[in-house]
Amino acid sequence: MSQHVPFTTNNAGVPVESDADSLTAGAAGPILLHDHYLIEKMAQFNRERVPERVVHAKGSGAYGSFEVTQDVSRFTRADLFQPGKRCDLLARFSTVAGELGSPDTWRDPRGFALKFYTEQGNYDVVGNNTPVFFVRDPIKFQDFIRSQKRRPDNGLRDHDMQWDFWTLSPESAHQVTWLMGDRGIPRSWRHMDGFSSHTYSWVNADGARFWVKYHFKTDQGNAFLPQAEADRLAGTDGDYHRRDLFEAIEGGEHPSWTLHVQVMPFDEAWDYRFNPFDLTKVWPHGDYPLIEVGRFTLNRNPEDHFVHIEQAAFEPSNLVPGIGVSPDKMLLGRIFSYPDTHRYRIGPNYAQLPPNRAHVPVHSYAKDGPMRFDAARTARPYAPNSYGGPAADPSLWGAPLGWDVAGAMVREASPLHREDDDWGQAGTLVRDVLDDAARDRLVANIAGHLADGVSAPVLERALEYWRNVDRTLGDRVAAALAG
Ligand code: HEM
Repeated sequence: MSQHVPFTTNNAGVPVESDADSLTAGAAGPILLHDHYLIEKMAQFNRERVPERVVHAKGSGAYGSFEVTQDVSRFTRADLFQPGKRCDLLARFSTVAGELGSPDTWRDPRGFALKFYTEQGNYDVVGNNTPVFFVRDPIKFQDFIRSQKRRPDNGLRDHDMQWDFWTLSPESAHQVTWLMGDRGIPRSWRHMDGFSSHTYSWVNADGARFWVKYHFKTDQGNAFLPQAEADRLAGTDGDYHRRDLFEAIEGGEHPSWTLHVQVMPFDEAWDYRFNPFDLTKVWPHGDYPLIEVGRFTLNRNPEDHFVHIEQAAFEPSNLVPGIGVSPDKMLLGRIFSYPDTHRYRIGPNYAQLPPNRAHVPVHSYAKDGPMRFDAARTARPYAPNSYGGPAADPSLWGAPLGWDVAGAMVREASPLHREDDDWGQAGTLVRDVLDDAARDRLVANIAGHLADGVSAPVLERALEYWRNVDRTLGDRVAAALAG
């Protein structure tokens, strides 16, 4: 018995006459312009891509839910973190520099983007699988990314360009140490931690403010791919991580992560022993131990990758009452960048699309624009109005977040600990966190990377860079390259 299948319609829902034959003047004749169904198919096809993300183009994700497991109400009034709360969530994991079709197993930081659909609107944490970053000022981000992407003349990625930028930007040393180590190629997205990396601010119901960093610890355990295995997979299964996540969830193996925060009381920031808002630094756990908050689990694959993942728009500017930004200049730069890129990449009404829609009623005064499908939210589209339109309620935000600022307009490094060094924490990572085997792999990974097309002057600077991180490490890299 043949299976019942629905009849094909055009985009307007009208039954079509054929899936196979265009309308022609005679069976062997020319195609007629008024075959509007053929035209619809061709025109739609020609427009079916949106630009890939300018960074983090290759990735995938899934839906799930977040639940609070511990009481952190003494630190934040944010509704989603109150005891007993649960909310839906969307996660997307990605590589940074590769294009949409690039292999999942290239050495790169991994994006770790979360969208919590809270009762106070969407809250996004757009982090990485590393707690630090390559630069500390957003004005260097574009240059950094260009050094990792393709050369304009030959269209190739180029290790010389990468090391040229890194060795001229010593603040990159901590992140490059992470990148060249085991965390640079996770076994799967399920087997990696996530970090807010940035410092955020929290305020509690009494108005007390705190600085926080988020750590999402994988409940599957951290695991990595050795370089040779990653290289093999890059050639044989470029979608290795995408497939792994999809198949795990499909098979009922739902990955989860436990959220912990480090909490610094507001006043301690100003005379802490280094600038706590510097994105190239971690806060030692001895000073600020991890405090458990909750857990999220991914349990539902999106039914359409383009709709739910390609059109997902994560933005660090999605903050909810109880949570704010910090003096981290990178974070402040990102607050502008993401909504701007979404308007370009997806369109000005991106917030209406399924992955980006808030799960609470939206009462904004935003209006019209291409592809708007929300009916007018109010008949009087302006504020203030006396016809019952929405009105801002500052009490929902409670005590102000933020910090005191004063001073002349300057282009200078933060005055918080100008004497901070760029090498210390990278060196501690090498000496005190890695074991012998991990250190050996670090040396091999760095030497392997440097051996691939790095010019003599840049190579010389790279050896100096690693000796600054750790004298022995630099000497070992030099020896590996010489041998
Ligand atoms: C994606 C800009 C730093 C994590 C993006 C995108 C832009 C961007 C334009 C593409 C977004 C899209 O098309 O949907 C910037 C700028 C930065 C910066 C200007 C610094 C000033 C960072 C840092 C992190 C990060 C420090 C992590 C701590 C991510 C992630 C994505 C992303 C995870 C992918 C989001 C997704 O899965 O859709 N970034 N970025 N970025 N960025 Fe950044």
